[in-house]
Amino acid sequence: MVAHKAEFLPSTTSDISSVLQGGYNHPLSREWQQERQLTKNMFIFPLFITDNADEESPIPSLPNIKRYGVNKMIPYVKTLVEKGLRAVILFGVPLKEGVKDEVGTAADDPEGPVIQSIKALRKNFPDLFIMCDVCLCEYTNHGHCGILNEDGSLKREPSVQRIAAVAVNYAKAGAHSVAPSDMMDGRIKDIKIGLMNAGLAHKCLVMSYAAKFSGNLYGPFRDAAGSAPSHGDRKAYQLPPGGSGLARRALKRDMEEGADAVIVKPSTFYLDIVSDAARLCRDYPICAYHVSGEYAMLHAAAEKGIADLKGLAFESHQGFLRAGARLIISYFTPEFLEWLEV
Ligand code: PBG
Ligand code: ZN
Repeated sequence: MVAHKAEFLPSTTSDISSVLQGGYNHPLSREWQQERQLTKNMFIFPLFITDNADEESPIPSLPNIKRYGVNKMIPYVKTLVEKGLRAVILFGVPLKEGVKDEVGTAADDPEGPVIQSIKALRKNFPDLFIMCDVCLCEYTNHGHCGILNEDGSLKREPSVQRIAAVAVNYAKAGAHSVAPSDMMDGRIKDIKIGLMNAGLAHKCLVMSYAAKFSGNLYGPFRDAAGSAPSHGDRKAYQLPPGGSGLARRALKRDMEEGADAVIVKPSTFYLDIVSDAARLCRDYPICAYHVSGEYAMLHAAAEKGIADLKGLAFESHQGFLRAGARLIISYFTPEFLEWLEV
């Protein structure tokens, strides 16, 4: 009896503020502890569109992701829209012989996969938000993201002019947003001016890949898009992985040039940059891009039995929200549409 009574005596040694577990004992109270929760409207799904309208082919290094031609993409996207898909980002993949050239002419070919897809998506899914990645690397014969000098370095001015022209043509075709991923200096300004001159600036959100790092995580994407550079690398224009100061300068610069939202890419290894972006660009939507290599790594880990895929997907994506992202470009979007209720 005495022992029983003693259990109810307050401990004199414990500090009341150290007891946290009561705050997250129930599944609902655990949800309350999250500042933000993953919801379907945060997800942007990357779509690879080829110039063969009836194509539907798997991408070996990107599990569950396929390259589609316009005709095959529409029925696939329909299944996702029915599950609550709100936004896509388009990447064109020209497969036809001889379409690649020095300046990436095929990027905004009116008959090409991106412009054709914008139109088909607008027509079939009036509520879907259609974004276009804007870059030249999928369309240049050298595989670099801009136009080159003789010595292989980038020619800034013609590059940004060409990139701005492509962005404007995507907006003219009906894209709700253009997202330049090329990392040329000054392209946000040229794109904004181009949109203004075309009378489209008020209808098109410019989402800048402002802090895009060069590294080891884009391999599966380059397989999917056929966009690996034929010589050299992208280290002279994508940011060095240790360059957090550069990333902060790029974020500020792109805001000043008129970006409406900013992307940090990759995501998992760069959560400090996401958090810097949330602080520096606090009045802007911040998007984390969970890139192809990150996605493939999680699949590989799950296949090896290291961890459960769904658990990894939630934990990584919750990390982006915790760091301050509000939007996520993710190859896991179809799965999250199944996993999330809203
Ligand atoms: C094009 C572009 C790339 C990605 C997005 N836009 C490839 C690259 O810069 O090499 C990478 C996305 C991914 O890996 O999922 N510039
Ligand atoms: Zn590129």
